[in-house]
Amino acid sequence: MADSGATSLAGLAEIADIGRDRKRGGYSRHLFDDADRELREWFVERATRIGLGVERDRNGNLWAWWGAPGPNALVTGSHLDSVPGGGAFDGPLGVVSALDAVERLVRGGVRPDRPVAVVVFAEEEGSRFGFACLGSKLVAGQLSPERARGLTDASGRTLAEVAAGAGLDLAHLGRDDEALGRIGLFVELHVEQGRGLIHRDAPVGLAASILGHGRWRLTFHGQGNHAGATLMSDRRDPMVAASALVAGIPGVAAAYPGSRATVGRVTATPGGVNVIASSVDVMLDARAECDDTTRALVAAIGELAEQCAADQGCTAELVEESWTGGVRFDTGVSTALSGALGGVPALASGAGHDAGVLAASVPTAMLFVRNPTGISHAPEEFAEAADCAAGVDALEAVLRSQLGG
Ligand code: GLV
Ligand code: MN
Ligand code: MN
Ligand code: MN
Repeated sequence: MADSGATSLAGLAEIADIGRDRKRGGYSRHLFDDADRELREWFVERATRIGLGVERDRNGNLWAWWGAPGPNALVTGSHLDSVPGGGAFDGPLGVVSALDAVERLVRGGVRPDRPVAVVVFAEEEGSRFGFACLGSKLVAGQLSPERARGLTDASGRTLAEVAAGAGLDLAHLGRDDEALGRIGLFVELHVEQGRGLIHRDAPVGLAASILGHGRWRLTFHGQGNHAGATLMSDRRDPMVAASALVAGIPGVAAAYPGSRATVGRVTATPGGVNVIASSVDVMLDARAECDDTTRALVAAIGELAEQCAADQGCTAELVEESWTGGVRFDTGVSTALSGALGGVPALASGAGHDAGVLAASVPTAMLFVRNPTGISHAPEEFAEAADCAAGVDALEAVLRSQLGG
């Protein structure tokens, strides 16, 4: 196993040129764009080389099977898509490590007593259609096919159009009891996105929980007008209202200890430099350990939005776009896996994951690999080769502990 780090990073090296974002830095890989297509082709080729049989489910997720697909399967994997300008590890590390770990079992002559699969979930980040964990939520029935079909991307294309172009049969989108019913245990390996393993001085850990989180759209409506001809006193400018809200959010969040509230995107309509906007959309991401806290935080932000809007003669509207409740991973499963690893730290995750979605339906666990920068969703996200190797070793050990033969 001396070369396992190189093996793990070799997988990342194979896809290193796919979806590089020359403008923002890092990677932009979004559902059914050119990069996503290339990554899917790479996955099929790589899995086939190991001897796995790949199928795409009716929601666009890929499953590479060792042995015939069937019940009580041991499933591992993650996602290949990214946020705009994201890092190289969030998602792909879990897929590459899963392929490496399964390849070792295949080459090591293990004869599994249950089906084994490597899965790639579609659009985990929600970067194209605005809905995080799209593929896993469709499978688990946590997103209705009707809602999914109508989701639109930045160019106004619907998911229905884009998915049909990629060959998905839209009549069969949605809850997939067959796919779900096959999973006996799902273990997702992921680069850590915070500093938990740095603080614990450990290369690998297990997830204990995930913060509940959601996305909300706050729309400020004002009066579109001419930037030169309109006196400052005559304006109803929704951008000024939106700015006041964004500036006030840290103060509101401070009243809810441990909560996180982020505005990562503000869109002015129509968006001309010499035009006072007629409306401004502010996308809010809010999270907290307790779901009631997140709800209270969002309500307080909504109240501040109304006040900021009124101050500018505008109106504000708050709409929930998506919500994932907080997750506590099955302690029985995590204890067993930690035992197989000789004891590793348990971490709370501030980031969302497909494993968090599946945890509501099937036994699920997560492994984290240390990120020495503590930065994620940015090009600086990182994992040392030795820690990647430790991650593959841990995943292999976990899979072995769940298999006979
Ligand atoms: C996904 O990475 C999220 O937590 O937003
Ligand atoms: Mn992510
Ligand atoms: Mn991820
Ligand atoms: Mn994520």
